This record gives sequence, C-alpha cells and structure tokens, in this order.
Amino acid sequence: MNKLPIVTIPDKILRQKAQAVTRFDADLQHLIDDMIATLREANGVGLAAPQVGQPLQLAVILTLPEEDDEGNEIEDTRELYVIINPEIFWRSKETIKGIEGCLSIPGYLGEVARHESVRVRGLDRRGRKVRLHLFDWTARIFQHEIDHLNGELYIDKLTGPENIWTEEEFEQRREALRQTRTESEEPVVGD
Ligand code: CO
Repeated sequence: MNKLPIVTIPDKILRQKAQAVTRFDADLQHLIDDMIATLREANGVGLAAPQVGQPLQLAVILTLPEEDDEGNEIEDTRELYVIINPEIFWRSKETIKGIEGCLSIPGYLGEVARHESVRVRGLDRRGRKVRLHLFDWTARIFQHEIDHLNGELYIDKLTGPENIWTEEEFEQRREALRQTRTESEEPVVGD
C-alpha cells in the first residue's frame, strides 16, 4: 500500500463531478487500499477519490472511535467503510451544527449544519449493493465525502461566512469559551 499525495484547493479536480465506477478490477482495489493507507496516515476520518486526483465516485470513511464514560477512546471501535457510486436517498429533517475540517483545506475548521441521519445506497469495493442508515458523526462524514464526489466543499455550506477559523483561532476561541463557562458556573459565595 502506498500513501498518495492529497490534492488541496484551489485544484480544479475538487470542483468536478466525479464519474461512476464501472470496473471493479485490480487497479480499483489498489486505489482503494492506497486511499485507506493515505487516510490513516493523515489521521483523517474520510477521503474521496478526487482528493487523490482520481475523478471517481469512491470514498473511504473511518468513523470516530467510541468513548468510555471518562471520554477515553475505546480501541477497535472505529469502523471502515468503502463506498462507491453512493446516493443519499433519505435525509432526516433534523440538522445538527458541527465543526468540520478537510484534508484538502489544511489548517482550517468551519461550522456546517448537516442532516442528523441519512440513508445511503451504493456499492462496496466488490461491486455488491449496499444500503446504510447512518447517524450523527458518521452521517456527517458521509455527507461531507459525498459532497466531494459532486465537486462541493464544506466551505460552500458554512452556517455563516464568518464561521471559519484557522486551527489556531479555533483553539483560542474554544479556550475563551471554556473560561467564560467556568467563571459563570462558579458558585456565588457570601451574600
Ligand atoms: Co474533505
């Protein structure tokens, strides 16, 4: 397995609609394995084929680990999905705001509202039909990756034009919020 270079904005391939996969041959299997290696190496949660320069309807997704009661990651709870020619055929009415980044837009984070749950149909790496019902962060990752296959990026869908930050700004903002919260939660003594 080889790590592939990741394409970043403003490369035009990120703005093209990807083509359907029709051949489930050895080349495709190699590409999928390389994309999985690239995703793990980059410590990401999703990677679409256009992000490695291949205009194909293919994405690999590695879900976030589950956490125990203390907030520690539970090992081996990440799930790997390979999805080909995906289509979202149902979306929940409920949407949730969340913070997203993208390996093709390094160093930035932005707030995006996504459907809390989606149903997706498509093919697995062998060309077999799959149907998935996805929730929360996994649903968010699928929506982000399927957008890539349509030439769309999360920066097109921010909850507001100002709701994008460098990783540094975001960290400072979070720290500031944390402090405000601590102060306001401090019990009033005396009186
Ligand atoms: Co992305």
